[in-house]
Amino acid sequence: MTAIRPLVAGNWKMNGLHASLAELDAMRARALAAPPACDLAICPPATLISAAAAILAPAIAVGGQDCSELPPGAHTGDLAAQQLRDAGATFVILGHSERRADHRETDALVLAKARAASAAGLAPIVCVGETRAEREAGRALAVVGAQVAASLAADLDAATLVVAYEPVWAIGTGLTPTVADVAQMHVHIRAGLVEIFGAKGAGVRILYGGSVKPQNARELLGAAEVGGALVGGASLKAADFMAIAAAYS
Ligand code: PGA
Repeated sequence: MTAIRPLVAGNWKMNGLHASLAELDAMRARALAAPPACDLAICPPATLISAAAAILAPAIAVGGQDCSELPPGAHTGDLAAQQLRDAGATFVILGHSERRADHRETDALVLAKARAASAAGLAPIVCVGETRAEREAGRALAVVGAQVAASLAADLDAATLVVAYEPVWAIGTGLTPTVADVAQMHVHIRAGLVEIFGAKGAGVRILYGGSVKPQNARELLGAAEVGGALVGGASLKAADFMAIAAAYS
């Protein structure tokens, strides 16, 4: 485990109504009663960011799940990074594999979004990860290395940047890589970050994501160069999310 303070972030995806805010109340109560030795964040849908920030601050940070690469203007349906920040977000997930697949987001677009996020004072959580076919073809390291090189650039603020390694085949499937595979990939990503940012690349948090559960969190988060988790399904319930965070205690 690295010396960097880890981050456990929840990605609610397109889930959550105002009725779900009770889970956030429970998370805040648990985070205050038994604070884990990590930072915490929840990325709810944009409709809940303001309400979530009001409930969770200051124990748990709030993030968006995407932002536009553009400044505010005539772009119906999009959200500018400044708007997320104004609503109370301090993080934003970018380049999640679901957005790369559903909205054809490229590495170049993800980089543009990361620049917009940084400029607005948001910490980008930039996601990378290989598909099952790419892993089976022995190309996982090359694919993820290329995503890191093209989705990030030296002008981003390494001090706030977060990278999340999420194998596409592990997301929402209950499947996870071996601890050795996670460690190998995270060491590879670390090398890519040092190539881009120099010594500052050594301090960037690299999260693991993909079917993280209370039962496997301690093992996965103990792998080399893993600086936290990006949690999907298991972040919807306060008990599960906080049990994962308790891997850092
Ligand atoms: P999962 O999702 O934990 O439900 O696999 C992770 C993610 O997509 O961020």
